[in-house]
Amino acid sequence: MRVLTIIPTYNELESLPKTLGRLRAAVPASDVLVVDDNSPDGTGELADRIASEDGQVHVLHRKGKEGLGAAYIAGFKWGLAAGYDVLIEMDADGSHQPEQLQQLIDAVDQGADLAMGSRWVPGGSVVNWPLYRQVISRVGSTYARLMLGLKIKDVTGGFRAFRRTTLEKLNLDEVESVGYGFQVDLAWRVAKLGLTIVERPITFVERELGASKMSSHIVLEAMLNVTRWGLAARWHALAAKRTKQD
Ligand code: GDD
Ligand code: MN
Repeated sequence: MRVLTIIPTYNELESLPKTLGRLRAAVPASDVLVVDDNSPDGTGELADRIASEDGQVHVLHRKGKEGLGAAYIAGFKWGLAAGYDVLIEMDADGSHQPEQLQQLIDAVDQGADLAMGSRWVPGGSVVNWPLYRQVISRVGSTYARLMLGLKIKDVTGGFRAFRRTTLEKLNLDEVESVGYGFQVDLAWRVAKLGLTIVERPITFVERELGASKMSSHIVLEAMLNVTRWGLAARWHALAAKRTKQD
């Protein structure tokens, strides 16, 4: 299986080299694609330098900050075109432990269509994460589970392994979420297709360097979208029932 780990970056100059070093050591077989949104701090140039010394590291430069979702979609398209079998999502800031990646790849190898790292299953945890972030994450996950009928515990998590065919079945151009709601969006689309999703426990460690790009706008986008999707799904179910009765 050819594996590609996609790492979106925006101003991750200090974190990226460490994360890349750990990833290359932990899963040497995985190629890497850094997707940089023209970071003002020079993360893109740094990634280019690393790529020039390591043939397994590639860089995709985008014009400007267009959000996590847009960066991942560009990365997925690049990886699919290049023929990878498994495509990984991983943050650049060290919050996702590269040493815990292999279990996600193994899960896909054993048949999962999507393997998700999860903070909120037994064995999963968060380290140094501010209480307000934990509350947003837990409330957001619970709301999405109830609204969308998802069985997943960590709906917004961003440490994932997709089987190639899973991404091929999604219409990536239809995905409109730009912020972290993108993670919920993709999980929901995969679940609707009836594909196999598994969760594996991970330790999420709050970044030590740089700053989060999370904003109230991002949270609002996710909440509004989940509400919209949930209501639409209920409406469709109701309409289908009516048609059957008629
Ligand atoms: N290219 C690009 N463009 N990268 C971005 C952008 C963007 O607009 N916004 C964020 N990123 C990158 C960051 O540089 C980092 O590598 C990763 O995406 C995650 O961003 P953070 O800002 O560190 O996210 P967080 O720690 O607040 O959020 C974490 O929790 C969220 C909620 O559970 C992440 O794990 C998210 O994936 C998760 O959805
Ligand atoms: Mn982070």
